[in-house]
Amino acid sequence: MDINTLKTQIESEILQVNSTEELEAFRAKYLGRKGALAELTGMIPQLPVEQRSGLGQQVNALKNNLQALITERQNKLSGVSAQQNVLVNCDIGMPGIAQDLGRLHPITQIIEEINAVFVNMGFVVADGPEVETEFNNFTGLNIPLDHPSRDAFDTFYIKPLVRNSEIQATGDRRPATGGLLLRSHTSPVQVRAMKSRKPPLAVIVPGRVYRPDAVDASHLFMFHQIEGFMVDTNVTFSGLKGILETFAKEVFGEEIKMRFRPHFFPFTEPSAEVDISCIICKGKGCSVCGRKGWLEILGAGMIHPNVFKQVGYDPKKYSGFAFGMGIERIAMLKYGINDIRLFFENDLRFLKQF
Ligand code: DAH
Repeated sequence: MDINTLKTQIESEILQVNSTEELEAFRAKYLGRKGALAELTGMIPQLPVEQRSGLGQQVNALKNNLQALITERQNKLSGVSAQQNVLVNCDIGMPGIAQDLGRLHPITQIIEEINAVFVNMGFVVADGPEVETEFNNFTGLNIPLDHPSRDAFDTFYIKPLVRNSEIQATGDRRPATGGLLLRSHTSPVQVRAMKSRKPPLAVIVPGRVYRPDAVDASHLFMFHQIEGFMVDTNVTFSGLKGILETFAKEVFGEEIKMRFRPHFFPFTEPSAEVDISCIICKGKGCSVCGRKGWLEILGAGMIHPNVFKQVGYDPKKYSGFAFGMGIERIAMLKYGINDIRLFFENDLRFLKQF
């Protein structure tokens, strides 16, 4: 029989098939071992060589077509739609393709954790710009014009107006105004928040800060800090101690001890550096704490009256405390990370651990 006639016959005959049994008979008639297609295939070797592959291809095409028709009919008979067929043919027990879930960067996680601790104590979260005025970063914080942190070796300037050398040459002691820089700490947000709000206030400020430091295992040109401050008519140093101790215990564990060492910061008086007992050796002395048993985690103190004057608060009426900490350092201590660069290399093997 001619292949085209066969095709037409198949296409009309399949429409008469109305049960699974009939379909099976139909399948055997055409696709079975002694079926019409097998017969056609059997004829191929008897053909002249040039005609063989032509017929071979036609028979194959017909076979595919026939199989599709049979499946379609089968679905129709059993009431399965094409979409359901995908489900029927799908092995739901087969392991799927795992979705890689995104997650927060470890620094963001620590920031959120620390924010939550302070928010629970009544602080609000604020932020400020990373491009900051020279005034807010230094002058408003009682940092004198000749302070080393104002040097271009310690601060990235965008638009410096008054340089130390000019001051010395001219004897000009007027405060620098109009200069712009990348903030070198989060403390300028103290100035911003106090200028825009009235006491009482309790604020924390997480954010990025920049310093032109040579990069090594513990230094980067960019890192994160959290600043905190509280101002009211009766804020005390013991209040500062209580708040910081609560923070340290929440983040590092109940058994942590804390100590204040006298220090100097221009924007606080008195000032202190705050240590916690080493979380690795529990205070016995190890390589992480340099055998001291203590780890420095932040700077703090009572807000200097000159800062209050700069923002228009009456230093006789108000008192306040402030503190500032490096977040990478906290994260490194908490998770035992020995190289700050790991945070920013975008290496998923590192990031997936958090
Ligand atoms: N701004 C300081 C720094 O970057 C940290 C600091 C110390 C902040 C004492 C404070 C403070 O608010 O009271 O090194």
